[in-house]
Amino acid sequence: MTGPRTYLDHAATTPPAPEVVQAMLPYLTEMWHNPSSIYVEAQEAAKALDRSRARIAQLVGAADPDEIVFTSGGSESDNLALRGVVAASTRRGKHVVTTGVEHHAVLDPLEQMEREGVAEVTVLPVRPDGSVDPAAVEDAVREDTVLVSVMHANNEVGALNDIAEIVRRVRAKNPRTVVHTDAVQSAAHLGVHVDRLGVDLMTFTAHKMYGPRGAGALYVRHGTPLQGQILGGGQERRIRAGTENTAAVVGFARAMELAAERREADISHERALQERLLEELPRRVPMLAITGPKDADSRLPGNVSCAVGFVEGESVLLALDLAGIAASSGSACTTGSVEPSHVLVAMGMPGELARGSLRFTLGRQNTEADVERVLEVLPGIVQRLRALSPIPVTEPPSDWAPWFE
Ligand SMILES: Cc1ncc(COP(=O)(O)O)c(C=O)c1O
Repeated sequence: MTGPRTYLDHAATTPPAPEVVQAMLPYLTEMWHNPSSIYVEAQEAAKALDRSRARIAQLVGAADPDEIVFTSGGSESDNLALRGVVAASTRRGKHVVTTGVEHHAVLDPLEQMEREGVAEVTVLPVRPDGSVDPAAVEDAVREDTVLVSVMHANNEVGALNDIAEIVRRVRAKNPRTVVHTDAVQSAAHLGVHVDRLGVDLMTFTAHKMYGPRGAGALYVRHGTPLQGQILGGGQERRIRAGTENTAAVVGFARAMELAAERREADISHERALQERLLEELPRRVPMLAITGPKDADSRLPGNVSCAVGFVEGESVLLALDLAGIAASSGSACTTGSVEPSHVLVAMGMPGELARGSLRFTLGRQNTEADVERVLEVLPGIVQRLRALSPIPVTEPPSDWAPWFE
């Protein structure tokens, strides 16, 4: 790699903050002992875990630190929430409601449970901006619905969901239905409060908020039926076995603390850069449609997603990489696959247009110069790729029209 690089993929992962690394170091070098052991060094590690749990509980508004279960990250928390509730609720039913734009860490375990015959899943369509209609969730809830899982903020197009309203409606229809939300993307940017949102289960991960990878949590409201999925040593109140990753948990708590301290500054910084890109990209690149909500208030700060007609998103990404810009075509986990993003397809976007999807996600270190660099290089990249394309660049098909409005 030569020359300066511009990192615009903060929704995939964020660089650990220096304060986070500092907080973690003593637990890698001195207090590395097993927190379940009896001697004094181990007890120091156990105390650090307790302090981190209490701090995270306080930051997300949990009534009791015991409601925070540490996991290895967002995927594990999502899997635990879904499998754990379904397994603990077999006498009440097996119906689960979710949406077509969830992360694969939600959709894949549900699909697997359906194949196994232990769950019956209703996957709801979403609105063209990627958000879900709370009334549609309410309509889908039945007497035997044991779980509703709807993400707080979408990782690809930045659409925010009105989780508080969804919870109110679900409770009114069936007070026994458990509600889970994946707050992996929103917790970093917006801050989340379990009582204000009203959910029973909430998924977090540290590495999207300038913390380390390999640390996350599931908030579990007391009284929620949940069967542990990793069995063994009995850690995490027997819900999640495994020797705790003390250093990562300490880093996670520090990252969440910093996110809370810097929230206002982070939001206004990211919104300013985001707005410039959202406004300017469609002006500079012909046949580029912004995807996700149009107004900033309904959109995750820092998220800029679009679909460019008559190019492959992957080819644009490679060219951007050569120009020193690191971006994504949607979720990092599906980068490399030739299928158009399941999120854009669920939003109703024609597959041919969805193939040209790009995502720029801004963070603390980005500057106006980074944004200007994208605006400078992207039009030329798209023009070159279109000129080389074996597919003739014609007038956009009529079903693309609504996406350019
Ligand atoms: C919405 C959402 N949920 C879950 C995950 C998975 O989190 P992790 O990488 O910590 O397993 C991601 C990561 O991209 C995400 O964006």
